[in-house]
Amino acid sequence: MLRRLTVVTALLAAALTATATGTAAAADTPLRDLAEARGIYLGTAVTGGKLTGAYAGTAAAQFDSVTPGNEMKWGSVEPVRGQYSWTGADRIADFAEAHGQRLRGHTLVWHSQLPSWVENGTWTPDALRTVMTDHVTTQVTRYKGRVDHWDVVNEPLNEDGTLRRSVFGATLGESYIGDAFRAARAADPAAKLYLNDYSTDGLGAKSDGMYTLVERLLAQGVPVDGVGFQAHLILGQVPSTLEANLRRFSDLGVDVAITELDVRMTLPATEAKLAQQKADYAAVTRACLAVTRCAGLTVWGFTDSDSWIPDFFPGQGAATPYDEGLNPKPAYAGIAEALAPVTPPGPAGCAATYTVQSQWGGGFTGQVTVRNTGSAPLTGWRVAWEYPAGQRITQAWNAAVTQTGTAVTATHLSYNGTVPAGGSATFGFNASWTGTNPPPAALTCA
Ligand code: G3I
Repeated sequence: MLRRLTVVTALLAAALTATATGTAAAADTPLRDLAEARGIYLGTAVTGGKLTGAYAGTAAAQFDSVTPGNEMKWGSVEPVRGQYSWTGADRIADFAEAHGQRLRGHTLVWHSQLPSWVENGTWTPDALRTVMTDHVTTQVTRYKGRVDHWDVVNEPLNEDGTLRRSVFGATLGESYIGDAFRAARAADPAAKLYLNDYSTDGLGAKSDGMYTLVERLLAQGVPVDGVGFQAHLILGQVPSTLEANLRRFSDLGVDVAITELDVRMTLPATEAKLAQQKADYAAVTRACLAVTRCAGLTVWGFTDSDSWIPDFFPGQGAATPYDEGLNPKPAYAGIAEALAPVTPPGPAGCAATYTVQSQWGGGFTGQVTVRNTGSAPLTGWRVAWEYPAGQRITQAWNAAVTQTGTAVTATHLSYNGTVPAGGSATFGFNASWTGTNPPPAALTCA
């Protein structure tokens, strides 16, 4: 994916008001607009049953991508073999469509939230392969053209980077991964197909395992388009190697994405913890922005009232960018600040000031300073002014000065024409005067 480096200057002021405190006024630029202007998407996991009222309003206004938190998992869509139930998944797909959002499909083949007929079945390799590819084909076909990214295989690895002995890994070995991807590609050639895992965010044994797995799959011609990094993080522990890790995967020729970001803390949340969380969210956002093939970032629930953390880690929580009352937390501002528009290289500016350095009977020494008030280098300058009382320049240095009647023009010389943004150049002159020696009313500088 080529990063659009579109610069939307209109967004700048609004983005910068979003906010040191973490509060987001209604007028703040939505995160989705900031993200789009920086060439990435900003997504959230959602719970379909909650998509009404303020929850739906925030999900639609702030995010340009949604991922069903549970509704597209195998156990949700095919609880009984061959009997599909699309209601929950459809509701989210319809919501995404109604609000101009991308839809991340999560997930086709995963060891968890499987229906028991798969998990507890007795399988020959061929039978399981058929069941798996049928499932992939049916689901991807159903959402063809609507899901733009599929997490085709989720969490295939153990902590040490070896293949997880799930029902799929144990029965089929690594081959199940390639088969799942090929079935997905055949069902929707346009969808981007991802491998997704947790604890692969920084460099380490598990991400090394993912890296070599992706290398092998690509070498076999398996259509892997991207690697998802879940980024279920602990407060203050954003891996320092996150960006380097994303980059090494993208150097393999695949897209990368942050797919399930949250930052959990031991409750209660304090101001200091929320400030650290803001920095953590900003750091992850910046890491994605720094890697050209990072397609986007998804938070795993945008509000603390919709987070898996308290259920799975008793005593911990407050892991998302909005509190339970749907008020933005400092983490929201951390994302917004990281997404703030890049200041465009502005035009060069030029301003000149005139001073009399010394004066004696009939003569004086003057000086003009040319300042570059813009944000791009000034390449050549010319200053002009009118003398109001008949002053005449007799000698000049550091500029070529000419005078016709009362009109004076001074042009840079070869060595001082380039003035960096914020820099200045100075030239001087001697001149004669009679009566009074008032300064020029104005200087023009171009
Ligand atoms: O739907 C039932 C409901 O009927 C029942 O009353 C209730 C009682 O506990 O459980 C409900 O199901 C829960 C389901 O979420 C929907 O809320 C399950 O118990 C619960 O285990 C399930 O948790 C989900 C978890 O995956 C399962 O592993 C989380 O919501 C979901 O956010 C989480 O997401 C995973 C990603 O898919 C993969 N990466 C890790 C991530 C966090 O675990």
